[in-house]
Amino acid sequence: MKNDKNIALEFNEFSKNYTNDMIRCVPRYLDLVSSFGKYFPAGFKPEKILDLGCGNGNTTAQLLAQFPDAAYTLVDASKEMLEICRNQFQDFDMSYSNSYFEEFQFEHNQYDLITAGLSLHHCRNKERQIVFSKIHSSLRESGIFAYSDLMISKTNPDHPALLQEWGAYVNSNFPDGEKWAWVMDHYATFDNPTDYKLQLKWLNNAGFSSIEIPFRDGYWIYLQAEK
Ligand SMILES: C[S@@+](CC[C@H](N)C(=O)[O-])C[C@H]1O[C@@H](n2cnc3c(N)ncnc32)[C@H](O)[C@@H]1O
Repeated sequence: MKNDKNIALEFNEFSKNYTNDMIRCVPRYLDLVSSFGKYFPAGFKPEKILDLGCGNGNTTAQLLAQFPDAAYTLVDASKEMLEICRNQFQDFDMSYSNSYFEEFQFEHNQYDLITAGLSLHHCRNKERQIVFSKIHSSLRESGIFAYSDLMISKTNPDHPALLQEWGAYVNSNFPDGEKWAWVMDHYATFDNPTDYKLQLKWLNNAGFSSIEIPFRDGYWIYLQAEK
């Protein structure tokens, strides 16, 4: 898909100052990242982990602190993002896939944990539902799918207020307004956030039974679903 092809280029460019930009452009970014690992059931010790849309590795790094011996598979459309991961995770059991989610082979019954930090809102609704089903099939019994995202659709009546608050946050960090203009351009071109209530339905349809939202600030949400 044309839009998807551009995601790789967009994030190649974004990778240059990614973490600093995310902290100052995404409200509660650090809370969303640190949620990965905070809310797993006691005794949960995944051996195989898949990180979808790993970016420069912030979610993976969070998991490594708790699960240094697990085998990780990192997927991202952006070559540059994966290169940053390769450089920083040399001492760990990692494999990499430079692919789009729709091309990635989700093998059946493989992983104990599948994560996606702020990456699934790039998928169209139909693709997201297919990805949820593939994730469910790719998890082992009692495996966990954990993801964070902006979970409000652009047609939700609360969306204008969200944009206003979000813009105030970005402009407080970048007062000249240029960054907010860039964020809105990126948002219009690449982002397709969906209401969390609809996503709960899709997760149910995919076969997940136990679903919880351990952290949220407005529509910035971290969600966990157990197979
Ligand atoms: C906003 S970043 C999130 C990175 C990291 N997980 C984090 O929490 O900071 C989204 C990442 O997902 C990747 N991505 C977006 N859509 C994708 C798709 N359809 N297939 C593969 N990677 C995708 C982008 O290249 C980018 O690196």
